[in-house]
Amino acid sequence: MKLEDIPYIIRIDEKIVGHPNEAKYRDKIPGYIARCPEACLVAEVEGTVVGFLLGDIRGWDFGVPLSGWLEILGVDPYWQGKGIGKKLTQAFLEYCKGNGIESVQTMVNWNEGDLIDYFRALGFKRSEYLNLQKKLT
Ligand SMILES: CC(C)(COP(=O)(O)OP(=O)(O)OC[C@H]1O[C@@H](n2cnc3c(N)ncnc32)[C@H](O)[C@@H]1OP(=O)(O)O)[C@@H](O)C(=O)NCCC(=O)NCCS
Repeated sequence: MKLEDIPYIIRIDEKIVGHPNEAKYRDKIPGYIARCPEACLVAEVEGTVVGFLLGDIRGWDFGVPLSGWLEILGVDPYWQGKGIGKKLTQAFLEYCKGNGIESVQTMVNWNEGDLIDYFRALGFKRSEYLNLQKKLT
């Protein structure tokens, strides 16, 4: 992934969620690329960006030992279901493994059953960590 890919990533995200969300990526991506460039990936078809994965290797957030963190991945809806998400995820897993990392973490919304099925298909299982929340309003 290069900084020049950001507009294409924002466009893919907009196609997925139905509305633009520039702030989500414009602030986040440069930090990820600076910290862990080889864990930030795009998939291209004939030179066009059709999918992306933002990840890094970090340790001790919430007491989790050094791990790969898959922050977000997305595939252009037209190209979904063709193995692109799997290739991106596998490339990230290989990168982590090649750096001696023994586990990869991600977080998904419990209500997004499709996404949970996707990660299950790639060998992810529920971890022993649980996200807790207290509403203040
Ligand atoms: C989730 C997403 C990245 C998957 O990418 P994709 O290119 O469509 O997935 P692939 O074609 O590589 O599928 C990989 C495997 O997951 C399975 N899979 C994919 N989508 C699935 C779904 N919705 N439900 C169940 N299984 C699914 C496939 O059957 C395949 O399994 P196989 O290897 O046993 O055949 C893509 O659908 C997407 O961008 N979704 C919307 C964005 C999103 O929710 N991002 C996650 C934020 S972290």
